[in-house]
This record gives sequence, structure tokens and C-alpha cells, in this order.
Amino acid sequence: MPTSLTKEAHDILLRNDRGGYTVPNSRVYPFQWNWDSAFVALGFDTFDRNRAWKEVETLFEVQWEDGFVPHIVFWQEDDGYFPGPPVWDTHHSPATSGITQPPVAASVVRQLWESAGLAGEQDAFRDRAVVLFHKIWKWHQWFARNRDFEGRGVVVAVHPWETGRDNSPEWDVPAAAVDTSKVGEYQRRDTTHLDSKMRPTKSDYDRFVALVQFGRSLNWDHAAIGATSPFRVADVGMTMILLRANRDLCWLAKDIGLTEAAGDVQAIIDRSVAGVGYLWDESLKAWCSRDTITGRFSGHITSTSFLSFYAGLDDPGHRHAVLAHLERIAQRVEYLVPSLDPDDADFDLLRYWRGPVWSVVNYMIARGLAEAGVPQWAQRVRADTLRLIEVTGFYEAFSPVDGRASGGDNFSWTAAIWLALQDVL
Ligand code: DGY
Repeated sequence: MPTSLTKEAHDILLRNDRGGYTVPNSRVYPFQWNWDSAFVALGFDTFDRNRAWKEVETLFEVQWEDGFVPHIVFWQEDDGYFPGPPVWDTHHSPATSGITQPPVAASVVRQLWESAGLAGEQDAFRDRAVVLFHKIWKWHQWFARNRDFEGRGVVVAVHPWETGRDNSPEWDVPAAAVDTSKVGEYQRRDTTHLDSKMRPTKSDYDRFVALVQFGRSLNWDHAAIGATSPFRVADVGMTMILLRANRDLCWLAKDIGLTEAAGDVQAIIDRSVAGVGYLWDESLKAWCSRDTITGRFSGHITSTSFLSFYAGLDDPGHRHAVLAHLERIAQRVEYLVPSLDPDDADFDLLRYWRGPVWSVVNYMIARGLAEAGVPQWAQRVRADTLRLIEVTGFYEAFSPVDGRASGGDNFSWTAAIWLALQDVL
């Protein structure tokens, strides 16, 4: 293990630590982001267990009464980011955004709890595990009520930002139906920090802003937004992540003695397992996102199409087809797993979620593959992730073809994944 990189990973987390929460990157993302924080906790857990738990606890301090947990918490002022608190206008203190993000927290807390067990320290963390269990379960129930309006057992995102994969081409057609005529003038900040060819386009941004304005017009009433948003796409990434998260939450409930709650979580898992077939695109033989308004499949295979193993879905028919796609893609790139299939017409080496490799998605894919008994591919995904960081540094994302950097440097979750990947699989 190259210890200088491990030291650098520690330094990045410590430098991006703002006291209880960690900014993803100090210039581009100067606040607390939901799924970033959860992954960051895995990194802290390798050298400061207490600080790891604190990262997740800080996020859940801002949970709304209805169970919602926002994707951004604006703990401090910083005008280097758009859209800031006045645009969201959620009437919460501290200010937050009005949409959520992929719910990885339960899986992370299970890992923190198991790691405390290995160190013989669970007694010191038991009360904190119980508190977090109840908060996370409240959030997962919020998902069931507000992001699965039709009870299909999937997660229906109401904003591309909610998926965490802002400009994936999966959203292009559904978001084209969003009326952007009243968006007005606004000043993006991301392209002042980063090369615009690595970022979403202006038309993506107009739709992002229009959907924020839509949520605000409904006063962030999540049930109303979930039922009527002009953008309602069943996201394969969030669906797989939430299914996995519920499995980990159920495990945690049993382990900390909350047997009755474990049964309630199991009922939600059963509903997802029964309904997730809605996202199997038989023509592509792949797990794909799907527009719930038109019923149309996205037609795009992304890195999240490979999260089915992580979600615990492993029937032989699907398994064979998913692995065949992975093998095909591996022939086309140097580094797995590109965020978009390189055979897709929209593949773009450096543009954010339209091609670059993201360490956090690789982490989940590799875990799933290892658990599904596919160690050679799990090891390949792990090794490629580590190699990208060794060759290029702690960047936000990487070109799958030549490893070039995409997005911001000194990125917290990339540092955290470097640390977390040292001793798994
Ligand atoms: C951004 O502003 O680019 C973020 O991804 C939104 O969460």
C-alpha cells in the first residue's frame, strides 16, 4: 500500500473537514452534501472512528419533520455556489436544498457498526447506532411515501440532481419535457471553477433550475412534488442503492435488537424485490432507468446498471446478461467502470456522468460483485479504481480511456474510497 497516498487521503479529509461535516471540494462544493458525507464517513472510519460517526450524525441533524434528508446543507455562507439558499427557499435553518440524494447512509452505518465490532468498541457506539437507525428508517419511509408514489418498489427521482448523476443521458428525454421558459437569468458558478466541457450543458442547467422553481412553487410539499413533478424518472441507481440500504438497515435492526422494526423494513425490501423488474429492459438485457410518465426506458446502460449485485439481485438470467455487458465494456476502456457505456452515442470521456469513472460507484459495484461470487471482476474494478488514483490523483472523476482527471481535485469522496478500498474484497 503506497503510504504516501494514504497520508494524502487523510490530509484531504482533514483539510476539507469543517468541524462535524466535510465539504466534497472546497471550491466547487463548499457545503455538506448528503451522499458525499456518507462515503466520507467510510474514509474517516479507517483512522478516526468517532469522527466517522459524527459525519453521518451531522447530516441527520437537519432531517425534516417528514423524514426527508436534503442533498445539500448550507451550514455556512459561500457565494461561490449556485443555486444557494435564496433560490431553494426551503424555510429551514440551517438552510437546505429541497431534494434528496442516493440513500447510502444505512449501508455506511452498518459498516461503521461492524467496524466498531471488530475493534471491540460496539458498546461505546450502541446508543448512537440506535438513534441513527430510527432517523434513517424515517428517511427510508419518506422514500416509500414520496418517491414511489405508485408503489412500484422503485425510487422515482424528481430532479436529475436527486440521482447524484446530474447529467446522465438517462435524463435527457424526460427532462426535455420540462418547461424552461420562465427560468430567467442566473449565474452558474461551477463553470467558473471548472472547465465547462467537464460539466452539464446550459440546457441541462435550465432544466435543473426550472425543477427547483417547480419544487419551490409547491412550497417543498414532497408528496405533491412526487405526484405531479414534470420530471419523474425511476432511477436504477437510487433504486438499487435503496434496496441495498434497506437490507443493511434490516440487518442493523436485528443486530441492535430492534426485531419488530426489522420486520417493517423487510416488508419494504419485499416490495422492492417484487417491483424492481420494472427496470429490466429486455431489449437491452440490462437494468435501466425508466420514465414513469411515459413508461419509456432510457435506452442507456450506465455504471449504475451494474449495481444489481450490490442490491442483492442475483438470479441466473440477469446475472449472465449483466456480466456480459461488463465484459464487453472492459474490452473498450482501460479503466472500469465508465459512467456511460462506451458504445453509447452519448459517451463523452470527460463530461461528468456521461463517461468518466467515479470511485464511489466503483466501490459499490466491486462490493456487489465480490458478494455475488464474481471475485475476478470485483478485483478488477477495485484495482482500476486504485490505479486511477495512483496515476492521476484524488480527482472527482477520471477518463475511463486514459485516466485523465475530470472535475475538481482534492476530492473528499475519492480520498475516502482510497482508504476504504485498502482492506475490502
Ligand atoms: C452541482 O451543483 O453540480 C451538484 O451536483 C448538485 O448537487
